[in-house]
Amino acid sequence: MKGIVWTAALLITTASAFGEPNPSHEHAGDVFQYFHGFRHWFDDGVINNGTPAGETVELGGENVYLSYPRRNQTEYGILYLTDIFGNALVNNKLLADSLARAGYFVAMPDLFQGDPVPVDAMSNPNSGFNMTEWRARHPQSQVEGIIETAIEAVRSEFGTTKLGATGYCFGGKYVAIFLAEGRGIDAGFTAHPSSVTADEWESIAGPISIEFGELDNSNTPENRTNIEAIFAEGNKTFQTSLYADAEHGFAVRTDLTDKKKAFAQESAYL
Ligand SMILES: *[C@@H]1O[C@H](CO)[C@@H](O)[C@H](O)[C@H]1NC(C)=O
Ligand SMILES: *[C@@H]1O[C@H](CO)[C@@H](O)[C@H](O)[C@H]1NC(C)=O
Ligand SMILES: *[C@@H]1O[C@H](CO)[C@@H](O)[C@H](O)[C@H]1NC(C)=O
Ligand SMILES: *[C@@H]1O[C@H](CO)[C@@H](O)[C@H](O)[C@H]1NC(C)=O
Repeated sequence: MKGIVWTAALLITTASAFGEPNPSHEHAGDVFQYFHGFRHWFDDGVINNGTPAGETVELGGENVYLSYPRRNQTEYGILYLTDIFGNALVNNKLLADSLARAGYFVAMPDLFQGDPVPVDAMSNPNSGFNMTEWRARHPQSQVEGIIETAIEAVRSEFGTTKLGATGYCFGGKYVAIFLAEGRGIDAGFTAHPSSVTADEWESIAGPISIEFGELDNSNTPENRTNIEAIFAEGNKTFQTSLYADAEHGFAVRTDLTDKKKAFAQESAYL
């Protein structure tokens, strides 16, 4: 819930009967009351199963999964930056659909050009997958180019004027990068971000929300404290949350039979 509220504040949602964001609110507290009361009209939280509702199209030569909100408004958009499993992971599409159902036009570029990390690469020791080689095939400069193309297309072809970014694990780094001045993102949200440097956090120019999991070894208590100190010293508009028993990746995929993990995912979904 709180995550929703924050994005509401970030991206400026009030829940009209049609679920369309309204840019008049910028304060989380304001939006919370309003949003909470009307939430059930258009938003039932995270979609965890079923068939993705969006479509994959080519924009600027790159594949992008698009998911539309009710009435197809495209003025208020979210750029969804995936984890290493990319657009092939159904959870990413369903989460994009969840954000669309909450009132946003969602664009999820294929950051890996059809070559994501296989879903079982980590869990299956015999998969033969080589992470070093995979990373070399997807250098930062290339990923940034794909994101730039997507931002440009969303703004020019769909008329999106307010564009937030959500990023999970791998994608979290790029939320920070593209939230810097002039990079094209107005507000950022990331859950369990990976490999973000201090410089990248220091450079953010818009509001940001970060969702951490207690069990995420890539965001230790020390890391979290450092990030918050950077934001405080840099006079950033920020919010951080910590979820009990939540592991790396929990916002995208987790064990929903575990009440704490389910709570974490549902609360952190936006
Ligand atoms: C929204 O866009 C989709 C895909 O382009 C289209 O199939 C659908 O009819 C549109 N819905 C409305 C209400 O315009
Ligand atoms: C992965 O690829 C790198 C670079 O080609 C190679 O040095 C390394 O030995 C490989 N690792 C495994 C486990 O095969
Ligand atoms: C997180 O903190 C650990 C030590 O707790 C450190 O080794 C690591 O480099 C930090 N990661 C980042 C991204 O700053
Ligand atoms: C911090 O940012 C606010 C706007 O968010 C501004 O009014 C204030 O002057 C800034 N403070 C410093 C010390 O830069």
